[in-house]
Amino acid sequence: MESNITIAVKSGPPEKQRCACIVAGVYETRKLTEAAASLDRASRGQLSTVLRRGDLQGKVGQTLLLHNVGGISAERVLLVGCGRERDLNEAKFRKLLAAAASRLNETGSADVVSCLAELPLKDRDVYWKVRQSVEVTRDAIYRFDRLKTKNKARRQALRRLTLIVSGRDDLMAGEQAVREGVAIANGVDLAKDLSNLPPNICTPTHLAEQARELARKHRTFKVTVVDRLQMEKLGMGALLAVARGSHEPPKFVIIEYRGSKDAGKPIALVGKGVTFDSGGISIKPAAAMDEMKFDMCGAASVLGTLSAVAELKLPLHIVGAIPATENLPGGSATKPADIVTSLSGQTIEILNTDAEGRLILCDAITYVEKHHEPKVLIDIATLTGACVIALGNHATGLFSNHPPLANALLEAGKTAGDPAWQLPLWEEYQSQLDSPFADMANVGGREGGAITAACFLSRFTGKLHWAHLDIAGTAWRTGKQKGATGRPVPLLMQYLLHCAKGR
Ligand code: BES
Ligand code: MN
Ligand code: ZN
Repeated sequence: MESNITIAVKSGPPEKQRCACIVAGVYETRKLTEAAASLDRASRGQLSTVLRRGDLQGKVGQTLLLHNVGGISAERVLLVGCGRERDLNEAKFRKLLAAAASRLNETGSADVVSCLAELPLKDRDVYWKVRQSVEVTRDAIYRFDRLKTKNKARRQALRRLTLIVSGRDDLMAGEQAVREGVAIANGVDLAKDLSNLPPNICTPTHLAEQARELARKHRTFKVTVVDRLQMEKLGMGALLAVARGSHEPPKFVIIEYRGSKDAGKPIALVGKGVTFDSGGISIKPAAAMDEMKFDMCGAASVLGTLSAVAELKLPLHIVGAIPATENLPGGSATKPADIVTSLSGQTIEILNTDAEGRLILCDAITYVEKHHEPKVLIDIATLTGACVIALGNHATGLFSNHPPLANALLEAGKTAGDPAWQLPLWEEYQSQLDSPFADMANVGGREGGAITAACFLSRFTGKLHWAHLDIAGTAWRTGKQKGATGRPVPLLMQYLLHCAKGR
């Protein structure tokens, strides 16, 4: 669903902003930021009086909504805690932005002006602060309730957000940040929507249909869908082995984006699209199995990223590839000990049918390498539970055979607030994949499970400059706030914006 919030930048004094609510920061302990101080002066000390009563310490993410503040043009004031002034950093900045957005969405304020993008932050410029404000706000107000018929979340109150920037000189950078931030947020929303859909709706066929939908919207796309019969003709034995247990037809979706006539060899993005992972014959336990509808978040991030790229008309050449299938048990499902021949010609002994992601990715990688000769290939996959154990839910696991690419992605993640952390791809781990009967096994034991999964993929990337993003811990949230995060669309977009500027 497209968001219905409009975002803009302007400059001007906070007390003069005519709106439903003006947002300003307060440092710990009860120290007014510059914007809050202006409001305080205009209201003849009303804010300091309230703070002195002790209603807001200024801890990061605390909020206090005030009505009837005199001497200013806004109907309400939302004060937002920013923590200690000298401790303010990127993560705290994002946290306080999210708190402000959630609180605003609970009030009835439709038209809001925020001074938070003006907060001084070491090493971060107006562009960065405005773009983060856009992305974090859109993330905080996202809802997925289209399949509810009652108890829907209250209608989104927030309709217009204006971000104050310090001077008129900052307006241009601010406007560019809004444009790019909105496009990225739209891409994140698309990825979230697809991921949150139930697996009986978001099937491989649905993903293929979504790619076609993108191509209808933007003429810069060309979509190819490879079906089961063509997979057989091509020899995609690994992908087919995963699809065998399911009646739902598998699809291999290729989306080519050409943003300029002579953009050279493409950047390839390959996203794991398992629309439901039961484990197959090596079936998973029942607890939390519903979350395996999120096993297509890699695919969703490819579609979200491509959609943002097209919206910004980036002058790049990109190939998105999505191997999509269910992984189910059944009478003709693949069995542990089955040996299959991958598209590359290498044979694989499938010892655990639950290690299916690498099987569909290896054939997709071989296909893309052969048919598109990319200069860079990045795969994105909810690949291993082991990655969640290693890194938790904060960092995406990054593996690469090309240090400059690894560094570019690490840097992009850091800038975008969508961080990755590198794990080793050393040769020493490869022997865990030895099989007595085939060229390799599809699992390498419990030790270093995220690494051996990456090692498996590395056997199909040849000389390509390749990176693998394991998003098993970052692609969705569990528990009360269950839902897709849209990660790593921001990381990928930051990388692609960098590529576009470097041309
Ligand atoms: N999709 C899962 C990985 C996963 C599990 C992501 C839990 C997030 C949470 C993947 O297909 C899988 O089942 N991997 C196995 C591999 C194992 C059999 C070597 C795993 O991680 O348990
Ligand atoms: Mn699995
Ligand atoms: Zn899986």
